[in-house]
Amino acid sequence: MALFPESCTRIIDLQSGKGRWALTETDRAELAAVHARTRAAPPGTEEELLHLLTRPFATEDIPEYFRYTSLHVLAWYLAGTPDQVAATLRAMDAALADLTAVEHAAGEDEERLRRLAALRAHLRTLPHADGPAAPVLDTVDAAQRERLRILVACTGFPMSDRHDEHVFLRAVHVCELAYYLIRHQAGAVVAAVGTPAASTLLARLTRYADLPNRVFHVLRTLTPESFMSFREATGYASAVQSLNYHLMELALYGHDPRKDRVLTRYPHLRPLTEPPLREAYSLRQAVAESGDPGLAGAWQELARNLLTWRGRHYGFGRRYLADIQGSGGTEGAEYLKGFVVKRAAAGGRTPVPVHFAYR
Ligand code: HEM
Repeated sequence: MALFPESCTRIIDLQSGKGRWALTETDRAELAAVHARTRAAPPGTEEELLHLLTRPFATEDIPEYFRYTSLHVLAWYLAGTPDQVAATLRAMDAALADLTAVEHAAGEDEERLRRLAALRAHLRTLPHADGPAAPVLDTVDAAQRERLRILVACTGFPMSDRHDEHVFLRAVHVCELAYYLIRHQAGAVVAAVGTPAASTLLARLTRYADLPNRVFHVLRTLTPESFMSFREATGYASAVQSLNYHLMELALYGHDPRKDRVLTRYPHLRPLTEPPLREAYSLRQAVAESGDPGLAGAWQELARNLLTWRGRHYGFGRRYLADIQGSGGTEGAEYLKGFVVKRAAAGGRTPVPVHFAYR
């Protein structure tokens, strides 16, 4: 396998060493300067790679969650691949393969390795177009392989030097990919309502919607003590800042005014509380308007999968944070509890954007 250019390897080593939290002010200033210098880098160049690697150190005001997760690299990767479903499944598999290698090297947690293997095996059974995803994961051309290699390398930097932060960070990446896949597929179902394709697409979506539950099954191998050992290093990076997640919710359920209190705190989320997105046309609405009992039944199954995830997430909040506030400044587990059950939303006619936007 070809190595990255030396200039990039140095930056990778710098961030991997003791974790990004341990970087000195001089290191940070250097990384920020590289990022600024490579702003206009042409695609496919060493300069572009340097730009991707250093985005968490950009001097502009970006949400902490974006800095922590390097979601801009996911956006870069997805933008370069025409088949978004295949691209997302491959990115999930690549992230999980990398985590598996990290876990094997540490040799600490056999149960986690077993759960990871089961999740990767499950990915291969997921539907893609007319068949299971296995061939999609097995047939990757050289150009796509290179993009996946860059994706994995540029997103694998924990903040701390704690081994267990890897599973947390990769769980976030795979969930983010699942949210995107769900939103993307929800758009496809809405467009197909009224045609015979709708029920097939909705059945596929239901399978994708179970993925975050399976990711949490892997993450559950983390102990609360271990979680607390790196939590401080992740600072104010809370997934409540995830535009991708809130757009997924909008695409599925429509606008929930109860969320405005939190969404209006973040400039990048505020548009979700205002027209036209406030009047989002949701999948729930499209299914209800279709009057198709088959679609309504399939929607219930999909909704159950996501309800399970929200319920487990609340359970995670209680288990790992007990009475501690969330890093997004919410009351923590109690905030999650309030949104486990979805309420009916007024709805409108605005289509929800389907592309993955983290620049
Ligand atoms: C130990 C594991 C986890 C705990 C204890 C936890 C806890 C929390 C808490 C307390 C919040 C409320 C917002 C805040 O103040 O931060 C939150 C929000 C959120 N978390 Fe987690 N979380 C965990 C793992 C994850 C993972 C792996 C993901 C995947 C991306 C995730 C996605 C989200 C999302 C999307 C929100 C916003 C939910 C909403 O606004 O309805 N969480 N989490």
